[in-house]
Amino acid sequence: MVPDAASLTSSPAQATPLPPFPQLPPLPSLPRRLSAEPPGWVREVDVVVVGSGIAGLTAALECRHLGTIMVVTKDEVAAGSTHWAQGGIAWVQAEGDTVEQHIDDTLVAGAGLCIEEAVRVLVTEGPDEVAKLINRGAEFDRDLAGELELTREGGHKRHRIAHAGGDATGAEIERALISAVTADRGIEIVEHALVLDLIPAEVDPDEAPAVAGVTLHVLGEGTRGGVGAVHARAVVLATGGIGQIYAVTTNPPVSTGDGVAAALRAGARLRDIEFIQFHPTVLYLGPGARGQLPLVSEAVRGEGGQLINSRGERFMVGKHELAELAPRDVVAKQIMKEMAAAGVDHVYVDGRMLGEETWRVRFPTIWHSCRQVGINPATDLIPVAPACHYFCGGVETNIDGATSLSGLYACGEVASSGVHGANRLASNSLLEGLVFARRIAERLQDVPPPRRPPAQDPRKPGLIDRSVVPALQQAMSRYAGGLRDAAGLDRCAAELAKLAQQTAAEPGLESWEATNMMAVGAAILASARLREESRGAHWRDDFEGRREAWRGHLLVAQDDQQGLRHHFVPAPPMSVDRRPDR
Ligand code: SIN
Repeated sequence: MVPDAASLTSSPAQATPLPPFPQLPPLPSLPRRLSAEPPGWVREVDVVVVGSGIAGLTAALECRHLGTIMVVTKDEVAAGSTHWAQGGIAWVQAEGDTVEQHIDDTLVAGAGLCIEEAVRVLVTEGPDEVAKLINRGAEFDRDLAGELELTREGGHKRHRIAHAGGDATGAEIERALISAVTADRGIEIVEHALVLDLIPAEVDPDEAPAVAGVTLHVLGEGTRGGVGAVHARAVVLATGGIGQIYAVTTNPPVSTGDGVAAALRAGARLRDIEFIQFHPTVLYLGPGARGQLPLVSEAVRGEGGQLINSRGERFMVGKHELAELAPRDVVAKQIMKEMAAAGVDHVYVDGRMLGEETWRVRFPTIWHSCRQVGINPATDLIPVAPACHYFCGGVETNIDGATSLSGLYACGEVASSGVHGANRLASNSLLEGLVFARRIAERLQDVPPPRRPPAQDPRKPGLIDRSVVPALQQAMSRYAGGLRDAAGLDRCAAELAKLAQQTAAEPGLESWEATNMMAVGAAILASARLREESRGAHWRDDFEGRREAWRGHLLVAQDDQQGLRHHFVPAPPMSVDRRPDR
């Protein structure tokens, strides 16, 4: 049974007519679970956390008093996206800044689709959670007087972004959290373990669908190697993003959307997944570059860096009141327009005015990435182009991280908590991981006893061959990336449907990941095809600007009868909703 929409997504009684959904093209057929050998071992814990970035590790620490906690992570514990976060973490702290201003900036960036209650929770509860993070050992950069150094990034009207190690904020946060988690003997970390599927719980016919744990594959031999099952009172998904479904991304290789795909197969609702944020300034390494590419942080522009087109013009001035510091979707779109107009595949960040000393101290990571390819940011323009960066939607949750499946919670990038709307405000994501992980732990005080898995899982298994991945990434980038239209999305659906026929006989990490990427890609392109407007990070070339009828949340769930099933829930009126002029 797929849960009905609107129990989580707030659905005010209002007369907004639903937009008519266009007819979807045939989509790839998706399995309901991954083919794998049956579990050879079973563990019982209270809470299993899947993922080991800021959200997962914070959830583990915050849940610690609830009993036995297991953190399952696909690679080494530090291999996820948090480690790569450069710019920083935003919270209200400076004189002259206010909670209302941070909320306002978040809502404006979110292009009319943020859930205001979630944004208020984020901004008001964020400062205490950062204080806790600092107590846990994270060290942010300070000036000679010991005050935090603050910067700005796209969409922020105040200086409120703290950073660490110059541009190595995520690495410092991850270091501090790993050290706190590993010092706690009550938290077990299982590395090199891919969660395959969520285990459905046995429920009465009138009960909501529920989750009883996870199946996973642990690399290695012996008692805990191979495929096993972990039964838990609660599963917390914190698996991060989906960037690897595109040909170029800032996300690390582990970001293959495994948590999103597992939630979809289990029948959980996803929300607003068509909003994929393309970071405007990713180091351009030539037309053949693939996979994870180095970020050139927005903080470079926060410190005075400028954007220059192929004619040497500073093109953001006059396009938005904040020029280079306009919200990320605005800058990315303008860069794409500049590139299309000049028939080129990159523009430039000019950070020469910062000087070598500032570059080395304030931006050591970017300095190093540039020097490795022969660019000197103190004397050269840095070639940049947009690349996939952040999944603004995700597994739908309420403000306590609860999903549409009982026993399943989600936080961090995998979740759609409602704080990002159609376009995330820079440096809000680390904050989101902290705040909603803690709220899940609070909610779990009343978590019911463990549920039983069914004797047999009736869901149809399947597996797609790993060889399809490069073609899938190309199709997603070409047709379902920063710029989309109906014809391209239909083409993408046809290509993915063809690729999905290449099934794999042998289960293994790469074919499990390929199957997950196919599921996430198919779901994203379907939602992108349905939403006939341009809003935030979803840019339809055939539907210019926002349309009021589409100001709402697009939900999708998978069921056996219909494959992907969509609902639309109109958004309530917002206190800030700028006109669709960007
Ligand atoms: C950046 O440093 O530009 C990225 C920060 C973010 O994605 O929030």
